[in-house]
Amino acid sequence: MNTVDRNARIEGCTAFVTGANQGIGKGFVEVLLERGAKKIYAAARRPETLESLTALDSARVVALPLDITIATQRVAAFAAAPDVDLLINNAGIGGSEEPAERRFLAATSLADARLVMETDFWAQIEMCRGFATALQQGARRGRRPAIVNILSVGALFCVVEYSTYSAAKVALAFATIGLRAEFESSGVSVHGVYTGSVDTRISARNPHAKTSPPDHAREVLDAVERDEADIYAGLGAREILNAVRADPENFQRERVRRFRDDPLR
Ligand SMILES: NC(=O)c1ccc[n+]([C@@H]2O[C@H](COP(=O)([O-])OP(=O)(O)OC[C@H]3O[C@@H](n4cnc5c(N)ncnc54)[C@H](OP(=O)(O)O)[C@@H]3O)[C@@H](O)[C@H]2O)c1
Repeated sequence: MNTVDRNARIEGCTAFVTGANQGIGKGFVEVLLERGAKKIYAAARRPETLESLTALDSARVVALPLDITIATQRVAAFAAAPDVDLLINNAGIGGSEEPAERRFLAATSLADARLVMETDFWAQIEMCRGFATALQQGARRGRRPAIVNILSVGALFCVVEYSTYSAAKVALAFATIGLRAEFESSGVSVHGVYTGSVDTRISARNPHAKTSPPDHAREVLDAVERDEADIYAGLGAREILNAVRADPENFQRERVRRFRDDPLR
């Protein structure tokens, strides 16, 4: 069994969580509080939706307005949070509610695909770039700074019903590897989280069992403490990894078959 010194990196950290107002992001804020974070910048497009989180601990939870796709808001967030040593890039979207708009061919235009790529890929890179100096300074202060990019098991194979989302997440998975190499010499670790099924708005249509957002956050933060670069958290993540690794072509073929049989999923 793995033993985890939970306090080494998380206790006393100053964290920044995007999309903190609900779902997986909210779970991270709650568990960071539980694990002794010094300060948590909780960022959301609508800061009024953060009230229940700031009420948990108004001295440690700092609410910030941030749409990650808007450059001026990002710049304001970087300035407001110069002491960050744990960046959790969580905010993300799955694509249109309208299945056809999530397709490359059937969509009326590529507007939704571009929004998914802007949100789930480019904005995430901008967040890493914008906080680079703060994180590197954290390492010089003796902290062990980290970036946690929330990917998806949908970066391990193409979820054909959400292929624009899979494309953005696999792009972010590769960017995470590139960023890890670039940050390495300055002592900042970069982690990619292949999240499985977690009980949130995004997964509401999935009828299967799911991990709760706080349990997902606990799994991820434990793995960050263990310095795992690639993290598999949430229900089914490791099982999907193993199945993809065992026979990638067959795994993908099966997903394409399911899409053919029920394209409106
Ligand atoms: N739940 C799962 O099973 C699952 C599986 C794999 C990966 N993930 C990943 O987990 C992350 C969190 O998703 P979730 O499951 O917690 O879904 P969620 O409940 O829908 O939460 C998504 C969060 O992202 C925020 N967001 C979306 N676009 C944004 C933008 N442009 N700027 C700032 N915030 C934005 C949302 O804010 P609003 O409240 O303003 O909409 C919300 O706080 C995503 O990256 C998702 O891809 C989830």
